[in-house]
Amino acid sequence: MKTLSIDIRKAEPRDAAAIADVHHEAWQGAYAGIIPHRALTSMISRRGTQWWANAIRRAATVLVIEIGGVIAGYATLGRNRARELPQQGEIYELYLRPEYQGIGLGTRLFAAAREKLVTHGLKGLVVWALEENSNALGFYAGAGGRDIAEGVEVFDQKALRKVAFVWD
Ligand SMILES: CC(C)(COP(=O)(O)OP(=O)(O)OC[C@H]1O[C@@H](n2cnc3c(N)ncnc32)[C@H](O)[C@@H]1OP(=O)(O)O)[C@@H](O)C(=O)NCCC(=O)NCCS
Repeated sequence: MKTLSIDIRKAEPRDAAAIADVHHEAWQGAYAGIIPHRALTSMISRRGTQWWANAIRRAATVLVIEIGGVIAGYATLGRNRARELPQQGEIYELYLRPEYQGIGLGTRLFAAAREKLVTHGLKGLVVWALEENSNALGFYAGAGGRDIAEGVEVFDQKALRKVAFVWD
């Protein structure tokens, strides 16, 4: 039997193409049928390898989860952007390749992202999820998040509600 090692680490510029691929697969899987097709396609194509290489070099922290040499998912995190919420940290994005979902990796990546915010000195955290993304809502509620705020995001004239989960 082959043993696969699971590694969660900061992304490096060489990971940019793999993260762009995860982003593409995960967003397509999570949002097709929710975000209008044209808006989704353009959001995905904007976030190619070059975009991710820049994001990794800039201040925003990008973490990857790597299994047996495959980048299975990523998370991005930093300072909370919503001034009306007192939590200092935010996980901006947490995405896994569809074939790696539902086996506990999201839980591990979330814990690592949370830990990273603590090491950055940021107390408490916020995560936003689209209300129609029931997987994400189930995941964050299961991880102990309290849904305390709502907002609206507009994609190609379609307004979608989003929910903020917080941890203190
Ligand atoms: C949401 C996501 C990060 C969760 O990671 P994951 O590895 O699939 O989740 P885990 O296997 O760690 O599951 C942990 C818990 O989440 C909950 N959960 C996971 N998938 C769920 C689903 N489809 N429906 C409801 N709850 C779910 C369960 O409570 C599960 O607990 P259990 O172990 O008791 O079953 C991952 O599925 C993903 O990337 N989805 C697509 C992209 C996305 O929606 N990202 C979040 C955007 S805000």
